[in-house]
Amino acid sequence: MKTIITTAYRPTEETKRCAKDTAQALGLTVAERNKRPIYKLHEELAADILVCKKERLELYPVGQSEPFFFHPNSAAFRSKRPLADDPLIEVSGLVAGDSFLDCTLGMASDALIGSLVVGDAGRVVGCESDPVIGHIVREGLKRYTDMPQLHESMRRIEVVSTDALDYLKAHGDDSFDVIYMDPMFTERITEASNFAPLRSNADHGQLTEEWVEEAKRVAKKSVVLKAHFRSTDFETFGFKRRVRPNTKFHFGVIHPNTGK
Ligand SMILES: C[S@@+](CC[C@H](N)C(=O)[O-])C[C@H]1O[C@@H](n2cnc3c(N)ncnc32)[C@H](O)[C@@H]1O
Repeated sequence: MKTIITTAYRPTEETKRCAKDTAQALGLTVAERNKRPIYKLHEELAADILVCKKERLELYPVGQSEPFFFHPNSAAFRSKRPLADDPLIEVSGLVAGDSFLDCTLGMASDALIGSLVVGDAGRVVGCESDPVIGHIVREGLKRYTDMPQLHESMRRIEVVSTDALDYLKAHGDDSFDVIYMDPMFTERITEASNFAPLRSNADHGQLTEEWVEEAKRVAKKSVVLKAHFRSTDFETFGFKRRVRPNTKFHFGVIHPNTGK
């Protein structure tokens, strides 16, 4: 599905400039809003609509009335708990000063928790293969104004609009301390986040042997997988599963340098 960019209902010089810049960055076209509601734009343009508002970018996929936009999502409450107890941090062994590669950035909530942990001496890179999602999240991480305690960690995350496998292939052995993968679940779950409107747009590609092998080569300390509790990917690809009772998803870990 193509994406067309427009402005808020009442455009300003700022939102018009944002639409032009966004179109240029993504190689997409702009349509004048002309006071049309989103459903009309969907009907007339047969495209997903990316709206440049003063405060944020909002994506309305065709057939959806609820937009996708950046916000810290689960990181908002996870960041208030002891970070060492966060399941991703516990499983990965991520510590201050580490480098963290998130292969499947999505809303960047996990990357944000990683960024809080690694701090200013560390590095966080997030790959997102869908260019529109990547752009919304990149801009959101730069422009988000609430929760000032998260701003430094948000700004630290480098968003790369690319497929994770291509990114891994371009990097040398042991380039990142921790590598993380959270592909889209194949099982339907009730999502509490605003990622739900994006189900149709996200890359639904699943883990492959090549992806895991590349991650093991590029990771120094650990490769972590998050998947649905019914997923057999943990066993298929050699991850040690950490069972979390009464949760819909589990984490699994590989320590690639044990025996490298
Ligand atoms: C389940 S979401 C990740 C959610 C994320 N962990 C968070 O905290 O918001 C998966 C995301 O990864 C992206 N994705 C899937 N496969 C990918 C790949 N091979 N390379 C880069 N991004 C990928 C999808 O488009 C989607 O946005």
